[in-house]
Amino acid sequence: MSLRTIYSTIFSLAVLSLIVLPGCGGDAEAPKKSNAAATSSGVENTSGLSDFQLENGIGPVTEKLTLGEIDLAKASKGEKAFNEKCASCHKLDEKYVGPAQRDVLTRRSPEYIVNMIMNPDEMGKKHPEAKKMLAEYMTQMPYQNVSMQEALDILEYFRSVNPKK
Ligand code: HEC
Repeated sequence: MSLRTIYSTIFSLAVLSLIVLPGCGGDAEAPKKSNAAATSSGVENTSGLSDFQLENGIGPVTEKLTLGEIDLAKASKGEKAFNEKCASCHKLDEKYVGPAQRDVLTRRSPEYIVNMIMNPDEMGKKHPEAKKMLAEYMTQMPYQNVSMQEALDILEYFRSVNPKK
């Protein structure tokens, strides 16, 4: 076991205990306030998230992005940013500290990915899919100070490496 694995395990256990302990029961009972947005069907789902948030995550992206042809210049900037800020935890093809990313667009919507990059804490606390990942990987992805532009570049990079592009 490497030092990094030990550290990240300790860190995740600490984070998990913060999330899980107060979350026991309390969350379900507490009436959801303003973020209990009505869904498109007009019926509130049990997660307290809107249908949009369930599919696309919680964060700065609140409507569908318009994505055209893959922009290779942006993708190459995104690759650089990925190598600087993400590769310490994510590889394209293998599980590492976090999940492999080549096929991330097969699992998640583009909007979800940008929201996850820009708002990982809230995602880990409130989004059912991110919570599942957190439980599986035992590490909370940190906020990496990524701008919207940079997040979109990284998204472009993910699009360019996706097997189903
Ligand atoms: C310290 C390690 C770490 C760093 C740095 C990190 N991540 Fe993560 N990331 C994780 C872990 C662990 C998860 C899964 C658990 C969670 O949701 O927190 C994750 C989850 C994700 C997900 C969701 C994957 C899915 O299938 O739902 C995306 C997308 C993602 N990371 C992208 C990035 C990008 C892009 C960067 C760089 C800007 C980055 N991450 C930096 C650890 C990290």
